[in-house]
Amino acid sequence: MGKYQIIATAAMGLEALVAKEVRALGYDCEVENGRVTYLGDETAIARSNLWLRTADRIKIKVGEFKAFTFDELFEKTKALPWEQYLPEDAEFPVIGKSVKSKLFSVSDCQAIVKKAVVERLKKHYKRNSWFEENGALYRIEIALLKDVATITIDASGSGLHKRGYRIDQGEAPLKETMAAALVMLTNWKADKPFMDPFCGSGTIPIEAAMIGQNIAPGFNREFVSEAWKWIPEKVWDDARMEAEDLANYDQPLDITGSDIDHRMVKIAQGNAIEAGFGDLIDFKQMQVRDISTSKEYGVIVGNPPYGERLGEKKAVEHMYKEMGQAFSKLDTWSIYIMTSNEDFEQFYGKPATKKRKLFNGFIRTDLYQYWGKKPPRQQNI
Ligand SMILES: C[S@@+](CC[C@H](N)C(=O)[O-])C[C@H]1O[C@@H](n2cnc3c(N)ncnc32)[C@H](O)[C@@H]1O
Repeated sequence: MGKYQIIATAAMGLEALVAKEVRALGYDCEVENGRVTYLGDETAIARSNLWLRTADRIKIKVGEFKAFTFDELFEKTKALPWEQYLPEDAEFPVIGKSVKSKLFSVSDCQAIVKKAVVERLKKHYKRNSWFEENGALYRIEIALLKDVATITIDASGSGLHKRGYRIDQGEAPLKETMAAALVMLTNWKADKPFMDPFCGSGTIPIEAAMIGQNIAPGFNREFVSEAWKWIPEKVWDDARMEAEDLANYDQPLDITGSDIDHRMVKIAQGNAIEAGFGDLIDFKQMQVRDISTSKEYGVIVGNPPYGERLGEKKAVEHMYKEMGQAFSKLDTWSIYIMTSNEDFEQFYGKPATKKRKLFNGFIRTDLYQYWGKKPPRQQNI
């Protein structure tokens, strides 16, 4: 088994959560802006892809160096051991980005990196002609930040948020990675009730169900690195077998999703069936103001409309008020609402126990947290 520098990329604000997940998989890691880095073997690449709920994608770092000129970029890229990663038939497109760097022309950087990799491989595979590039995909990225070039190969393929269950969606669906992050931030456990009163396409309840039954989020999809020859098929088979063993399909769940829009309820039900939770999540059409329950010590996670569209603000703020009134009766429940409305607490009618800044795509939001009463301790007699 080899040792690779693995990067799990993370949305702004989710780095610590990704790091927690990486550590839970058993890998020591370092947290940086937008990424978590760690050393691991082929198994770590497979397990990271299969298990990380909040990371965007898994990349392999081939090299990192300072580059102020195109010559430097070319020579230092050519000096990297590309033949260890790319077979003779590899398809290797190069994408790029540049932030606060002298080499700001991304298209030139991409072309130079491509040329350097080709030169290196030509020498290694003793070729004079072009490579056909008709084999597995190794998407290379050159990312320049303050003149430091990081060169990686993408090991995920489609982003990790694509779990494969979302066959339909509403207007403003949450990324699956963010939905998982919201659930994880509540510390909800599967023996407690869980509700999403703005379920839309059902992303939050479905992610909660996967967390509740310890189902690996990537179990039902493929990853581009499954076609890489240097990761033996057995590594993937073993990682999938481990995931199957660790899944707890018998764990009972009490998860409800509701939405004012009956069309969304249908979509959410369809997605839940696709995810294998058709009977396990209870979806229903309901306005948030009508929510009431006699259950106790549950968790509510909601991603309501933010009211950012013209003419929508007043109605949304009125709805926040009704929500506050309905939830005021649920004093044992912990309630987590994500919105960009800075006056949310005022409309909801109560200051949050805690707020956490989060980015929903490019929208800056806060997760308003209202912690419920703790269950009484069992008396030891
Ligand atoms: C931002 S979307 C939620 C998206 C969802 N998290 C997903 O991943 O698809 C907000 C949802 O709130 C619903 N909604 C709006 N007003 C509501 C109300 N008063 N009660 C319940 N649901 C409401 C909308 O129909 C919409 O589906």
